[in-house]
Amino acid sequence: MLEIRDLNSHYGKLHVLRDINLQIGNESVGLFGPNGSGKTTLINAVMGLWKPTSGSINFNEEDITNIDTYNIARKGIALVPQERELFPGMNVQENLESGAAYIPHAKDELESSLENVYSIFPILKERSKQLAVTLSGGQQRMLAVGRALMAKPKLLILDEPSLGLQPSLVSELFEKLAEMKETVSILVTEQNVRESLKAVDRGYVLENGSVALEDSAEGLSTNPHVIKSYLGL
Ligand SMILES: Nc1ncnc2c1ncn2[C@@H]1O[C@H](COP(=O)(O)OP(=O)(O)OP(=O)(O)O)[C@@H](O)[C@H]1O
Ligand SMILES: [Mg+2]
Repeated sequence: MLEIRDLNSHYGKLHVLRDINLQIGNESVGLFGPNGSGKTTLINAVMGLWKPTSGSINFNEEDITNIDTYNIARKGIALVPQERELFPGMNVQENLESGAAYIPHAKDELESSLENVYSIFPILKERSKQLAVTLSGGQQRMLAVGRALMAKPKLLILDEPSLGLQPSLVSELFEKLAEMKETVSILVTEQNVRESLKAVDRGYVLENGSVALEDSAEGLSTNPHVIKSYLGL
């Protein structure tokens, strides 16, 4: 589905991504690493938000390295960004519907997509007429994920979805992600490695812009370096 080859990215002279190779099939994949290791930069490269300096990104056998964000979204990649951008003055349902705007195949299936999102996040159905700005932080996070699902993506990318959530909501969010992986491929970046390893099949560890480790969730959770640096044992 997604294939990243020898990707390099710079901000001016700062070399942020170094020869990244990463693949995602029909599965759920974690992207871990400390602050500033390049996780968001890698995601921005996939979404066409920041152009890499070299290397390639293929999605379903098609080179998307130099395609603009709007067309990448239409091809079936949806992003829940690290800085969530809801429409605060619109209600929950309007925010959800906005996720399908501009994506022709998603607009055609608006009703069934809404039902799907409401079945995953029943709280959003209860609050469907409430303004987004009045939702709690956790509910807003669910809404951001729901809105991305409204685009009917083949690949859903989430950048630090658990940031700032209380522990019980983090577990709930990852349970939902584990449910979703039956129907959509997932790439999720996380500081909360312990929780996310329960929800993903495999993971990559980025350190200083390079892939330091790549293994199954099981392999990562028993790796001494991961345990020492990311699981805090
Ligand atoms: N727009 C930018 N201009 C210049 N440097 C940037 C820009 N965005 C990020 N950087 C730098 O690139 C490096 C990687 O940043 P990036 O946001 O990709 O890291 P991250 O792994 O997502 O970190 P975090 O876990 O804090 O979200 C950092 O050193 C950061 O300061
Ligand atoms: Mg980031």
